[in-house]
Amino acid sequence: MTSTRLTDAFGRQITYLRLSVTDRCDYRCVYCMAEDMVFLPRAQVLSLEESIEICQAFAELGVTKIRITGGEPLVRNGIQTLFSEVGAVDSLRELTLTTNGSRLSRFAPELAAAGVKRINVSLDTLDSAQFTELTRFGKMEDVLQGIEDAKAAGIERIKLNAVILRNRNLDQVLPLVNYALDHQLDISFIEEMPLGEVTHHGREDEFCSSAELRELIATQHSLTPSDYQTGGPSRYWQVAGSDSQIGFISPHSDNFCSSCNRVRVTAEGKLLLCLGNENSVDLKAVIRRHPGDRERLKQTIVDAMSNKPEKHYFYEDDAPQIVRFMNTTGG
Ligand code: 5AD
Ligand code: SF4
Repeated sequence: MTSTRLTDAFGRQITYLRLSVTDRCDYRCVYCMAEDMVFLPRAQVLSLEESIEICQAFAELGVTKIRITGGEPLVRNGIQTLFSEVGAVDSLRELTLTTNGSRLSRFAPELAAAGVKRINVSLDTLDSAQFTELTRFGKMEDVLQGIEDAKAAGIERIKLNAVILRNRNLDQVLPLVNYALDHQLDISFIEEMPLGEVTHHGREDEFCSSAELRELIATQHSLTPSDYQTGGPSRYWQVAGSDSQIGFISPHSDNFCSSCNRVRVTAEGKLLLCLGNENSVDLKAVIRRHPGDRERLKQTIVDAMSNKPEKHYFYEDDAPQIVRFMNTTGG
């Protein structure tokens, strides 16, 4: 029998899986993708059945929260099946989704029916023209409608994720916060991470620290530190007179590695033990070589835990260390 808990060499319990179901996306956000991306050939991507198998294996190993990511998960054909199958796993406390919101209107009822209660929606601006520039293709109105429809379908808690680039959308911080407060949403500001080679902008010139954004928000709102926890690296603040939580994700400046409870599986079936590290274990190879052998899959996952590094490490000698793009790891 495989041990039923996942614990790494530093005593951290792994209870949270982020699974990418596709590297494709209908947007090309400037900080995430190059304009002309080459996507994975279909055969290299996990089938939906394989993805479901992996979720079930992790759940049997004590994972209680699974987040489905991409690329954009809702562009994957048949994705409803994955939500309903994984949503039916008893031991799972939370099944959630990170989406760009473009197809949320269409999928919200099925997500809610599968038991999805909280979702993250990426939204970096409330200026429609700027939205189209930042995403290179997107229509902001689709996303705002998606958020409304998700609420109407019964998805209880929606969190906006915003990446702020100094020379682009710094002026959107307060409008986004006010939008979140008005619509009873949470919002997290994510510092841009040096993943992949984007030619669009110099990352240093665009960088805005969490501390700077928090000071900007504090000019309009009274913020108190909150003990709200979602099992992620966000540090939350509460606005006086509101239920909304304002989070800041600072991979550069905050060290959250010591409480890391998560691992990732890429669309190709690679188990990544740390976002800032290229080490991986090929779960797809195990599944395809030994179809239906759940114990072997679980043992592979258990064995991989001893390779989880203590810390992430984005830069060495000032050069970015991570060559993969965000869309292949799914944040
Ligand atoms: N740095 C920070 N956040 C990123 N995202 C995509 N690429 C990057 C990056 N290089 C964000 C998206 C989305 C979340 C999943 O990750 O905006 O909100
Ligand atoms: Fe697509 Fe999300 Fe990347 Fe934007 S950030 S291109 S929406 S995967």
